[in-house]
Amino acid sequence: MANQREIILSGIRPTGRLHFGNYFGAIQHFVRLQEQGHGCYYFIADYHALTTISERTDFYRQTIDMLRTYVACGLDPNKSVIYRQSDLPCTAELTLLLGMITNIGFLERGTTYKDKLNKLEETAGTEGNPLSYGLMGYPVLMAADILIVRADKVPVGDDQRQHVEMAMDIAQRFNYRFGQTLKVPAAVSREALRLPGLDGSAKMGKSDHNTLDLLDDPASVLRKLKGVQTSTEPLPLETDSDDPDIVIPLMPASVGILYRLLSLLAPNEVYLDFLGKYRRCERFYGTLKTTLAQYVSAFNAPIIERFNDPANNEESVRTFLRENAERVTPVALETVEACRAAMGIGHSLYRA
Ligand code: AMP
Ligand code: TRP
Repeated sequence: MANQREIILSGIRPTGRLHFGNYFGAIQHFVRLQEQGHGCYYFIADYHALTTISERTDFYRQTIDMLRTYVACGLDPNKSVIYRQSDLPCTAELTLLLGMITNIGFLERGTTYKDKLNKLEETAGTEGNPLSYGLMGYPVLMAADILIVRADKVPVGDDQRQHVEMAMDIAQRFNYRFGQTLKVPAAVSREALRLPGLDGSAKMGKSDHNTLDLLDDPASVLRKLKGVQTSTEPLPLETDSDDPDIVIPLMPASVGILYRLLSLLAPNEVYLDFLGKYRRCERFYGTLKTTLAQYVSAFNAPIIERFNDPANNEESVRTFLRENAERVTPVALETVEACRAAMGIGHSLYRA
């Protein structure tokens, strides 16, 4: 049991298969915090998945498969409360209440909103709905997710840092206006990682087709790694440090992702050996890719095996989703009722 038991909450959108960015930015921390005995709430953010929708997508199926992957990675529905956002519909009620004190200017400064808008504009509005009320309200919905369970900490990758800060801000504003009601969570830790994409772009992300996935089989892993662009000239490493956080940013971006993965997955001596080769400008990218592919596939093998375990099926996922939605609902309703009372509309006369 942890020295101090904290409330931990985090979510992932059901937009596809889980990749290494999700794992090293988020899931490995979910598992660690669960094993430390904290009160953990992990959910699939299916409402959030709808913020960029333009046509029907089978998010239900994607949710089930993502949950089977969560379980395969070590999340345990008996230790953590694992649920689906839309099974806690009072989150939408809290979003509505919080929306009343959230300025539009504040939302327009959100970097994710700005990035999504830019991307959607690049496709000339042919994908998604760039100006939806839902997309703009993304951080308010996320604040509701966090505040509804009175989370102390929100383990997320670096790309979500600003969203958590916005949730802190909304909670503080609420408390200032209506009296101490909501718990303000802590900021995202400085060490939060952002894993670059296989194409060398700043972030590995599902929508950018640059991911290495946890369920990729050995042939796909090798194909993807062989496809990484390494023909660029090595850049000199003007440091004696071996620390991945210091040397990797000095490499060409697409080579950097290979070294980052190696530093995360291979024993330190293997990483140092390849770093030495880089410093001596040897021709080694072929072996680097095949060596790395072996470590990646060895990492994936037990996850794939547990994913395919007959006990880890749709029925068992549905059962724990139902049970866990029941476990989180009372806590969540208490928060919504407190906010209603604080704002002055009083408690619901309908809910027991
Ligand atoms: P998403 O897939 O965008 O819903 O992200 C789910 C979780 O994975 C969040 O905590 C993200 O911060 C984290 N995450 C996604 N992509 C990356 C990445 N490339 N590097 C680090 N963390 C990431
Ligand atoms: N926005 C997060 C992402 O894209 C997913 C998410 C939704 C989330 N609600 C949350 C993460 C609440 C942490 C807490 O990755």
